[in-house]
Amino acid sequence: MSDRTQILVREAAIAGVSAAFASLGRVFICVDNGFRVVHASSLLDRLIGAGASEDAAGRPLADLLGADLFGPAGTLRQLLLAGERREGWRSMLTVGSERPRLVSLTAAPFQSEPGSPCDPRVAYIVVLRPAEEDQTSLGVSSPFPGLIGRSSAMERILRLVENLEQSEATVLLTGESGTGKEILARTIHAHSPRRNGPFVPVNCGALPGELLESELFGHVRGAFTGAVRERIGRFDLAAGGTLFLDEVGDVPLHLQVKLLRVLQEKTFEPVGQSKSRSADARIIAATNLDLRRAVQEGRFREDLFYRLRVVPIEISPLRERRADIEPLATHLLARVAARQGRALRFSPEALRALLDYAWPGNVRELENALEYAVAVCKGQTMLLEDLPIELQPSEAPPANESPLAAPAPAPAPAAPGPDARELTRALEAHRWRRVEAARALGISRATLWRRMREAGLSSR
Ligand SMILES: Nc1ncnc2c1ncn2[C@@H]1O[C@H](COP(=O)(O)OP(=O)(O)OP(=O)(O)O)[C@@H](O)[C@H]1O
Ligand SMILES: [Mg+2]
Repeated sequence: MSDRTQILVREAAIAGVSAAFASLGRVFICVDNGFRVVHASSLLDRLIGAGASEDAAGRPLADLLGADLFGPAGTLRQLLLAGERREGWRSMLTVGSERPRLVSLTAAPFQSEPGSPCDPRVAYIVVLRPAEEDQTSLGVSSPFPGLIGRSSAMERILRLVENLEQSEATVLLTGESGTGKEILARTIHAHSPRRNGPFVPVNCGALPGELLESELFGHVRGAFTGAVRERIGRFDLAAGGTLFLDEVGDVPLHLQVKLLRVLQEKTFEPVGQSKSRSADARIIAATNLDLRRAVQEGRFREDLFYRLRVVPIEISPLRERRADIEPLATHLLARVAARQGRALRFSPEALRALLDYAWPGNVRELENALEYAVAVCKGQTMLLEDLPIELQPSEAPPANESPLAAPAPAPAPAAPGPDARELTRALEAHRWRRVEAARALGISRATLWRRMREAGLSSR
């Protein structure tokens, strides 16, 4: 066969395969062993725009489908190099300057038959189809993308946020750890008259008093030892936007006075300066403390409390709004899986376990559980056994349940273990990642699990 004939035969072979996939509504792409596109079928033009298939030829596949999947360290590339095939992964397909499209893809190493008329450069094949956008809220039309709420409690909050769209009123968000205070604060900002200004978070619980003061208000050079240069405070950084005072219940009393003044008079002084500056930040504050009790106990100023709660919003714990679990789980699963370019679904048993669990760590715990489960899950369906041990509906966890668990301490049934408060503190400090919390407490994961149950921090 002459070279020319051979090329024609190869082209005809690829055209035939492309046509077969096109009949199924799929785009056929083949790449060489350097993951460059050898051929992309013309159906791509219909999906993306005229000329897209020609445009794609010769380009690295990573340009089209993202370096996360197909760059030198891309997840899917590594799997293909290891000889594996993957189905139903999601990615954004970008060609030229056209609008990216969400696609579902299947990829595999190409195994040619000896003597086949295929182009010898072809090492891997990828087949794409357009994917529907995720219906993350399962038919619930949330006015705010990314903020899920189906329960009547959450719906009330969503409606309130809609009503706040024209407002700049100070908002106080309360709720247990992990209930979604920060995401709600961001949503309120994003739908406020200040949406084009900055959203500046500051965690008031993370810094000791003096540092917090200069963090919030800034300081002048030489204001204190170590203040070698001037520093702009968060109030200034948030000018024109929103300042999010997270863990506001942790602000020490002497700073509460200063905070009250900013709220009342809209002025403040940077540390070490007597000249006042005007503040132009809308305040949203959040806390998981019972501020009313803190007021009664003299730890929080009553006047500040009322200044902050112009619009009070209380987010219930997840266990009290169970209707949110399924839409949240679906939404978070899609988000966590998409980070790895995957699209997963729950088996009915896994979903049931999620619905039955008490979620003491609220949405954050749900998100962490799904992150664990996605890492463990091998196929496209998340099974019950992929979920963290505490969600498994067995009566007791297996004694040696995980190679990650710290070795069990000497058996000491009567030993005074961490009490509920210590447990909660350790869990919160480790964002409800139990392996880490158990390690910090010096107990095994199984013991932590048992103590949580005893302390009523877990449903089982
Ligand atoms: N209603 C919701 N819709 C979508 N995602 C949510 C929702 N509520 C919480 N999340 C997600 O759960 C996680 C925890 O939420 P967030 O950080 O807002 O909670 P928090 O109340 O500020 O927690 P903490 O008190 O621990 O700081 C985040 O990843 C957030 O995106
Ligand atoms: Mg928070």
